[in-house]
Amino acid sequence: MKMILVTGGAGYIGSHTVLSLLGHGYDVVVYDNLCNSSYECLRRVSLIAGRNFEFIEGDIRDTAKLSQVFDDFEISCVVHFAGLKSVSESIENPLKYYDFNVGGTNSLLSVMSKKGIRRLVFSSSATVYGEDAPVPCVESMPHGKMTNPYGRSKAMVEDILSDLAKSDEDWSITILRYFNPIGAHESGLIGEDPLGVPSNLMPYITQVAARRLPHLPILGNDYETSDGTCERDFIHVMDLAQGHVLAVAHEPKSGVDIFNLGTGKATSVMRMITEFERVTKVEIPTAIAEKRPGDLPQVWADITKAREVLGWEAKRSLGQMLQDAWRWQQKNPFGYRTEDSEKLDCS
Ligand code: NAD
Ligand code: UD1
Repeated sequence: MKMILVTGGAGYIGSHTVLSLLGHGYDVVVYDNLCNSSYECLRRVSLIAGRNFEFIEGDIRDTAKLSQVFDDFEISCVVHFAGLKSVSESIENPLKYYDFNVGGTNSLLSVMSKKGIRRLVFSSSATVYGEDAPVPCVESMPHGKMTNPYGRSKAMVEDILSDLAKSDEDWSITILRYFNPIGAHESGLIGEDPLGVPSNLMPYITQVAARRLPHLPILGNDYETSDGTCERDFIHVMDLAQGHVLAVAHEPKSGVDIFNLGTGKATSVMRMITEFERVTKVEIPTAIAEKRPGDLPQVWADITKAREVLGWEAKRSLGQMLQDAWRWQQKNPFGYRTEDSEKLDCS
């Protein structure tokens, strides 16, 4: 039986994608070292899907263990999420990020090569468009200047994939560049589970709403945008998951095909707050704070290619993204943990 190997399948985007793949009848093997996720998430995915899947706890840098997975299962395609994603941590510890994101991917690719499996879907990011990119971002634009090792690690992997496909035409690689994934599965059973004080906007808003944090810092309000706050292309994580299902089904003709996954619409930080308050009826105290270095005023996707080639389009509204994020927060105040094991700090 042909199976999809999902590296990092216990994480935020991976778990929602595993659920969608199961819902579309795919058989799945999740390979994850659980360094930023938990077994409880996988248990809940199985509960919602009403079916089981395989799970191997392992690190993508462990080529022996990874090889064994290809021997034990008939893998037809790899969806590769496994990696680290904190911009600030990548600045503090660049070697760790290059080791996990670049070294880890290299290790996966060498095992796939040896085992003769050359079909890959890779999680990239809009961050590769860089700091001077015009909007909307189009896939044909070159990599821009990146401000941190996390972004550079994604761009490096994209380059490695391109070189690999040039070296061997049997490789069929789909690169998906995500914009700002938010929200949670509508059941409220799985969602985003950041450790400590969140650095991303959506989990920060929901933790302020839950009164775990006192107020939301608005990181700059004098940008040249509609209301002075930054604008981003927020996309529901279940729409993103559906994009992966279509990417798995789609065989690119050339070696590497790249798709933006966003909504094609920009929403400001201020509008996120007012819309959250409107749909949830919960007030979000805010305070204007210093700009965050590296933040761009406006980022959004051109989604023409994904629509025309994959037949994919985001369906869920901003209101639904916010409601689903809030439901997940309310049902799981401490994420997949049962108690507040970490003290949150707003300083
Ligand atoms: P996540 O941290 O929730 O999930 C990543 C998963 O990979 C975790 O379950 C973690 O335990 C696992 N993992 C990490 N290193 C591993 C290793 N060496 N071996 C095996 N497993 C390992 O992150 P996410 O938000 O689900 O992101 C998934 C992917 O998408 C990442 O590659 C990330 O860089 C990329 N991405 C995320 C966003 C976003 O906003 N969340 C945006 C753009 C791109
Ligand atoms: C950030 C990363 C990006 C990464 C993505 C997913 C930076 C510069 N970019 O994207 O590389 O792929 O997360 O992990 O770190 N904001 C506030 N208050 C907050 C938090 C955020 O006002 O407490 C604002 C930010 O200034 C930004 C917007 O909200 O304008 C969105 O921020 P965030 O959710 O962190 O996403 P990005 O910065 O787009």
